[in-house]
This record gives sequence, structure tokens and C-alpha cells, in this order.
Amino acid sequence: MAFGILLSISVALSLLQLPCHAHVLPRDDVPQGYGALPYYPSPHGGWIASWKVSYAKAQALVSQMTLAEKTNITGGVGIYMGKPCVGNTGGALRVGFPQLCLQDSALGVSSTDNVTAFPAGITAGATWDKSLIYARGAALGKEFRGKGANIFLGPTVGPLGRKPFGGRNWEGFGADPVLQAVAGALTIRGVQEQGVIATIKHLIGNEQEMYRMYNPLQPGYSANIEDRTLHEVYLWPFAEGIRAGVGAVMTAYNAVNGSACSQNAYLLNGILKDELGFQGFVMSDWLAHISGVGSALAGLDMSMPGDTMVPLFGFSYWKYELTRSVLNGSVPLDRLNDMATRIVATWYQFGQDKNHPPPNFSSNTKSRDGLLYPAALLSPSGQVNWFVNVQADHYLVARQVAQDAITLLKNNGSLLPLSGSSRLSVFGTDAAVNPDGPNACSNRACNKGTLGMGWGSGVADYPYFDDPITAIRKRASDVAFYNTDSIPSVPAPKPEDVAIVFLSSDAGENSFTVEGNHGDRDSSKLSAWHNGDELVKKVAAKYSNVVVVVHTVGSLILEPWIDLPSVKSVLFAHLPGQEAGESLANVLFGSVSPSGHLPYSIIKAPTDLPDSVSNLKGFAFGQVQDTYSEGLYFDYRYLNKMRIKPRFAFGHGLSYTTFNYSATIRQVTALAPFPPPRGPKGPTPAYSTAIPLIAEAVAPAGFSIIWRYIYSWLSPEDAKAAHAVGVAGKDKYAYPAGYGTEQSSTGPAAGGDQGGNGALWDVAYEMEVTVRNAGVKYDGKAVAQAYVQFPDGIEYDTPVVQLRDFEKTGVLRANRGEEKVLLKITRKDVSVWDVKAQNWVVPKVDGRYVVWIGEASDGLRIACYTDTLTCEEREGPV
Ligand SMILES: *[C@@H]1O[C@H](CO)[C@@H](O)[C@H](O)[C@H]1NC(C)=O
Ligand SMILES: *[C@@H]1O[C@H](CO)[C@@H](O)[C@H](O)[C@H]1NC(C)=O
Ligand SMILES: *[C@@H]1O[C@H](CO)[C@@H](O)[C@H](O)[C@H]1NC(C)=O
Ligand SMILES: *[C@@H]1O[C@H](CO)[C@@H](O)[C@H](O)[C@H]1NC(C)=O
Ligand SMILES: *[C@@H]1O[C@H](CO)[C@@H](O)[C@H](O)[C@H]1NC(C)=O
Ligand SMILES: *[C@@H]1O[C@H](CO)[C@@H](O)[C@H](O)[C@H]1NC(C)=O
Ligand SMILES: *[C@@H]1O[C@H](CO)[C@@H](O)[C@H](O)[C@H]1NC(C)=O
Repeated sequence: MAFGILLSISVALSLLQLPCHAHVLPRDDVPQGYGALPYYPSPHGGWIASWKVSYAKAQALVSQMTLAEKTNITGGVGIYMGKPCVGNTGGALRVGFPQLCLQDSALGVSSTDNVTAFPAGITAGATWDKSLIYARGAALGKEFRGKGANIFLGPTVGPLGRKPFGGRNWEGFGADPVLQAVAGALTIRGVQEQGVIATIKHLIGNEQEMYRMYNPLQPGYSANIEDRTLHEVYLWPFAEGIRAGVGAVMTAYNAVNGSACSQNAYLLNGILKDELGFQGFVMSDWLAHISGVGSALAGLDMSMPGDTMVPLFGFSYWKYELTRSVLNGSVPLDRLNDMATRIVATWYQFGQDKNHPPPNFSSNTKSRDGLLYPAALLSPSGQVNWFVNVQADHYLVARQVAQDAITLLKNNGSLLPLSGSSRLSVFGTDAAVNPDGPNACSNRACNKGTLGMGWGSGVADYPYFDDPITAIRKRASDVAFYNTDSIPSVPAPKPEDVAIVFLSSDAGENSFTVEGNHGDRDSSKLSAWHNGDELVKKVAAKYSNVVVVVHTVGSLILEPWIDLPSVKSVLFAHLPGQEAGESLANVLFGSVSPSGHLPYSIIKAPTDLPDSVSNLKGFAFGQVQDTYSEGLYFDYRYLNKMRIKPRFAFGHGLSYTTFNYSATIRQVTALAPFPPPRGPKGPTPAYSTAIPLIAEAVAPAGFSIIWRYIYSWLSPEDAKAAHAVGVAGKDKYAYPAGYGTEQSSTGPAAGGDQGGNGALWDVAYEMEVTVRNAGVKYDGKAVAQAYVQFPDGIEYDTPVVQLRDFEKTGVLRANRGEEKVLLKITRKDVSVWDVKAQNWVVPKVDGRYVVWIGEASDGLRIACYTDTLTCEEREGPV
């Protein structure tokens, strides 16, 4: 979502006075071999058993709706228009279907007060703790419900973090499809169990911020992704989210293979709705909707926020145009019925027909009263904020996530934990809250004070900010704080004195530029902001015990100082949200052992990664082409293949104690090369498909309109004209090649249930892992990670190892405290996507897969073999 960009775009573009309905964009060819194939018609929703009841209810309601009511609920009423959320659909109030409130962000209810500002996705990912990630989701869901939102615009699982410079990686959970998938699915469960619809986003390939958006002068970039790479990497988290029953999908701004995601028929109709069996509805990202008939046929179900590419004029590609397109026969009524049914069924699926509170807040103002239709300019006002406090005790979950994410990268000489009697000197503006107030910069579009979240639409306002320096002062009696990023003159330290240096690195959405970074870290690259590297070096020259604490959106290059002898300890605290202080102090002073693990690799130089990943795509005339030439090989998959040692590997994270692992393996389901055939699709709602009556398309007499509000009614003249075209049936729309209207009752072999063929989730092997605290002094939590290595001599190139499952233990007591955890390997986990077969294939059923178990991708200690069903201690392959 790009909320902040809107005003600037609209101001700039309104000068151009462009007609809003027709435009020809320059479009460069995608590279040889990439292309967007046709896939029609858009598959109906409703054929999956777990949605059956909701679809039956939806059918009953939608059959009572007029044409204009159906087109009303498939689109927003316009940006900043009416109802208080960042997106608001039209209602069909006559039949009891309300306007829906769609609200940012993935880490808290945005643009309002009395909410919790949770740690960002990347921080949740760094905990590697499934129950905690779920608990964060549940708390988020409660807050969205409490504020009256219907739809939570999260979780973010794309970007996946392919490009370390990418601006929004921190909204997601880490640079690995499985970590991202597990965390995304658990967030969805947590949110949706509260009766709030989650939105998995952004489908797909939004791996950099710059040039992502279509505008009247230039198309958004094209992410050119080969089919196997799409399935095994970028689509994987979406499949898992759909399997978890996610209610909504948001398309990305960019194109895939040259076709914009909001109207890419192969992606939406083919992959999402047919292969992955998605039953909910597909919305555009904000202002990513760029065509009327085309996007409807391609499978888009909801236009957000309803406006055309140039917003704020009350124009839409849908609403009245969609009404017209159905009346004139260009969009089959069947397609509109499916769009409306998907939206209404999802509303029923999460019980929103029963006691769902209406919105209690306004995204547009913090005041009690405000304009009811801010974008209308002339608008009545009234109460818009009720200040409902939804925080409950969610700070506890937020703090636990922040704390359990803290990742100890290095602890030479066991400098940490500190004792309360240490003499501490703390350096860096990142240690204390922004002196202007934690919410001083709108959309957090500045990096001042402790960095708790990135910037853009993926933020929430802090109700308060627990900053590190305050928490440190509570624990230690002798603290000198130098709130500066350049070293001041300090008294000569004693040899045992400890210095703590705070660093940060920020990123966000392209709608804002912060310190020269256009969303992506295009200016700072992977260096600490505010000259942080110099600060560490200077402090390290004075003090012999230095702890570096890093608040960051992602990977950072630590080479300028990581080997300095006095830099003994390094903690990554990621983006902690409001609970930055106590969470950190608990780790620094040893109330708990650190237990976070890196959700990405820390490389030594950007050139350690392939050019397609290490660089952002720069400006081009026409469409910027972002080709995924590295295929499956990004982050640790690439480093391992090229035998490049990172500074700290994906999954790395130390504790104050150490752990011993032992494991056994057993087979659960016998495998065959292909999964068992899928079942047929169940029935879907059927409606009359005759061209509707003119009366269904026009406003009741005397209805007074609000200027620039987006309505779905046509003028009586337009309705009559369109209807004449529709019933005559002679003027045909110029349908795309490959267009058809016949629904398939079978569907693709790889499909069959939500997320794909249900047999893909059969557990093939199960490892029982015993984790023991091998230390005598500190309690701690461990993360058991399982990586699969495919058999030698298969016909597919596969990464050396790939994460497939993980479990975090509870607190293991010092002196042999232990816990058993189960790690699971599914059929899908030992399959590759075969492009020719268009299915998942187990390349060598009786081959020796090695399931590596350990505490980091480069800390694998136990090998379990699927052929002999034995495990042994062995040094890992990387
Ligand atoms: C569309 O939704 C708006 C907002 O709820 C409402 O005012 C209008 O009457 C609706 N139109 C139809 C056709 O129901
Ligand atoms: C993009 O093109 C590649 C290469 O032909 C193809 O494998 C893939 O399926 C296409 N993806 C989409 C979404 O069209
Ligand atoms: C029907 O209306 C839509 C929306 O205005 C328009 O794009 C399309 O070309 C029309 N179809 C015909 C056959 O006139
Ligand atoms: C918002 O919630 C408060 C308290 O729960 C309630 O009194 C008020 O009527 C609600 N406001 C709206 C607009 O629903
Ligand atoms: C939060 O809610 C309280 C009532 O619970 C209200 O007094 C206050 O104004 C609200 N807003 C903020 C920013 O605290
Ligand atoms: C750890 O510290 C010791 C003593 O200060 C030093 O000899 C050693 O090189 C350090 N190791 C690392 C990895 O920095
Ligand atoms: C941990 O493993 C090491 C090496 O296998 C062994 O020497 C040690 O006794 C084990 N410690 C515990 C507490 O199990």
C-alpha cells in the first residue's frame, strides 16, 4: 500500500489532465522466453468443503443484489472518502451487506491511537518461535477487531527479501520461503480466529521499491520469474497462507513477465485460483488497478481504494464502468457474480455477519470530530474517533517477541551478560527515543532515535516508546549516555569499563525518501546509518569491552569493525516496535539468554551475492525489467552453492549457554514420484447469467450524491445505451487471445485443495529431536532447524540445503534441562516443481535425502537419512 504517495502523485499528475479511462503505456518486451500466458475464465470460488456453508449463505445474499449493488461491493468508494479506513468498499445496505473497512498495517492498526505497535515481521521471524508468532497474530487480530476493521492488510510475505537493499523486506519474516511461509500462515490463523479477514500480500515479485508502480508515463517494473523458481521460492509462502485459509490476497504493484499483477490472468486465474484453490477474494494494491474489463476477466475481485491510477477525481475503472461493462455484455455477469460471491462468502467465513463492530476510528484525523468525506472538499463533519483502547495486555506479547528475537551474533570472552555494577558508557542516538516524540515523523519517515519500525504504510503509531537507555538505566547504576553519533570527549575508561554502541539501518516504502534512500536502501546500502561504523571504530579504540546493538530492517555489513578485538559482543535487536527497552535489557543483563536467530545471511560485501540480487534495477525508459536470473539461488542458497562464507549465516544465533542435539527419524507416509491424484472440484454457486435489467443499474430517484464519491450507478441514458449493446450482443469486446468462458470441473493436477494438492502436506518423515542445555550456568531456549539436502545424482539442480521446518524449545534449565521437539518433512518438502509435468515430483523416492538438524544453516550437526532411517552426528555440508 502506498498511502503517502497519493497526494504527490495526484498533484503532479492532475497537471497533465490525462483522460483517466484510456492510456497507452510504453511497454518494453520482457526478455526472451518470459511471457504471460492467457488463462480464462476466472475459476469460480466455492468448491472447497471448508467454505461450503459460507458460499451457500453468500449465494442466498448475492441473488438478492441488484447489478449496481454487486458492483458497489467490489470496489472502494475512493481514497480519503467517507468511512474512516484506508480502504472502504461500497455496501449493499438494502440487503444487509455493510461497507467493509480495510486497514493497514501488518504490525498494528495504523493511523490511530490506543493500539499496540508490535515488533515488525522481520522481528517475529527472528524469534523462530511458532507459538509466539501465532500469539502476535492473535493480538493483532483482536486490535483490528476492536477498532472495527473487517480486513487486516497483512501479513506481508512478498517481498521475500531476495534483494538485501529492498525497502519492505522488514514487513515480512525473513529471506527463506519456509520461514516466511510458516510465520505468514501462523499470523493468518491468529488474526482470522478473531473474526478478522487477513490479507496475504503482495502477489508477487515486489522485491524492490523503486519503479514498482504503474503511472500514466511508465509501467511498473516486470519481475520475470521462471516457473520453477516461482513455485519453489516466491509462491511457497502464498500457498501456505492459502492452505491456512486466508480470506484475501493483495496483488503487487509490479508486473510479472510483463503483465501487471492486478490483471495477470495466468497468475490470478491460473496459479492463484485454480492451482492454489484460493477461495477468498483478490484485491489490488492501492492504485495498482489499471484497467476495467481486462482486470475483471483476469481474476481481480476488488478494486482498492476504488480510484483510477490518478486518484481523487471520483473516477474508477470499475464501479459505474463495471456496471456498464456487465450491462453491455463485455464482462460476463457470471464473472461479477463470482466476484461478489467471493467477497460475501469471505465475510461469512469469518463470522462478520454476527456482531462485528463498525469502525471506531478515523485514519484521516486524530481529533474526535472531522470531515465525514475528507476528499469531497465540501463535506459535513461529525464525530469520527471514539478512542477505543484495544491494547489490553498485548504489550506482553510484543515485548516477548522483541526479546526472543534478539540475536547474539558474537560474544567473545563472554562479555555478555553484563552485571548491573558494570560501569557503562552508552553511545548513539539510536539508544533513546526520538526527542521530538516517537510519532513525530508521519509514516515513520525519518530515522531519529531508536529505530522500532521501518517507514511507509506498514507502520502504526506508538502509544508510548520503551527505549533502551531508560531500561538500561533501570538495571545499572553507573551509566553515562552520549546521545550522539559522533564520539564526544569522554573520561579515560578503566580496562573493565563497558561501552555499548547503538546502530541503525532503516528502509521503507517508496512513497517517502529518507536520508537519500527511496524506500530501498539505495543510498546507505548495507552500511550502518549516521556514520555508525566510524562511531564503533572510535569507541573500540578507547574501550576494551564494546557491545554493539543494532536496530535494523535487514542485513548489514559489519566488516569495518567486527574483527576489532575490543568489539566483543554484537546483538541484532531487529525492529522491536514499542517494546525496545526492557526486551533488550533482559538480554543484556542476563535475565534471559538471547534466543533469536538470523532470518537472513549477513554477507561480507554486496558482491558476495549475484548481481541480479545485490543490485537494484535502475531507471529505464519504458518498463524496467527485473529478471530473476539467479533462479533458486539467493541468500544462503547462493552462498552455499558458490562456497562463499558469509560473516554470519542464515539461522545463526548464539545463547549464553550451549545445547546438545540428538535425533531419530521415522517414515510416516510412503512416497511415490507424484502425489496421489487430486479429487474433482465441488459444486459452485450458480446464478442466472442474463443481461440484467436497466433498473438494476440506475440510482433511485432523488438520491443526492457526494461530489467525487465513487458510485456504481449509471445515468439512465448510459444504462439504456449499454443495455442495448448487451442484449443485441453484436458489438464484441476485443477479448485477449485465449479467452474463454467454460469453467473447468477438473482443474490442474497440482491443485485440489487450498494451497494445492492436499497430499503435498502429507508428512513423509518425522524427526524427534532431543535438545539438551549443555551448560551449567544459564537457562536458555534453543531453535532446532531442519534442512533438506536432496539425493545425489538426480536430474534437478537443487540448493545444497534448504530449511524445511524448525521448532523453538521452551526455557531449558542449566544442567541438562531438555525437551523433545518434532520436526516434520512433508511430501512437498522433498519434491521439486517439474515445469514440464506442471506438478511436484519427488525426484528419487528411495534415494538418500539427508535431513540436517542443527542450530544454524552453517551449524548443522546431525544427519538423518531417509533411506536407512538412521541419524548420526556429522559435520554439516556448509
Ligand atoms: C454503494 O455504497 C454506498 C456506501 O455504502 C451507498 O451509499 C450506496 O447506496 C451503495 N449503492 C448501492 C447501489 O447500493
Ligand atoms: C513467466 O515466464 C516463465 C518463462 O517462460 C514461465 O516459466 C512462467 O510460468 C511465467 N510466469 C507467469 C506468471 O506467467
Ligand atoms: C462496455 O463498457 C466498458 C466500460 O465502459 C467498455 O470498456 C467496453 O468497451 C464496452 N463494450 C462494448 C461492447 O461496447
Ligand atoms: C465505537 O465504539 C464505542 C465503544 O465501544 C461505541 O460506543 C460507539 O458507538 C462506536 N462507534 C461507532 C461509530 O460505531
Ligand atoms: C486513548 O483512550 C483514552 C480512553 O481510554 C482516551 O482518553 C485517549 O484520548 C485516547 N488516546 C490517546 C492518544 O491516548
Ligand atoms: C576473542 O578475544 C581474544 C582475547 O581478547 C582474542 O585473542 C581472540 O582473537 C578473539 N576472537 C575473536 C573471534 O575475535
Ligand atoms: C554434549 O555433547 C558433547 C559432545 O558430544 C558431550 O561431550 C557432552 O557430554 C554433552 N553434554 C551434555 C550435557 O549432554
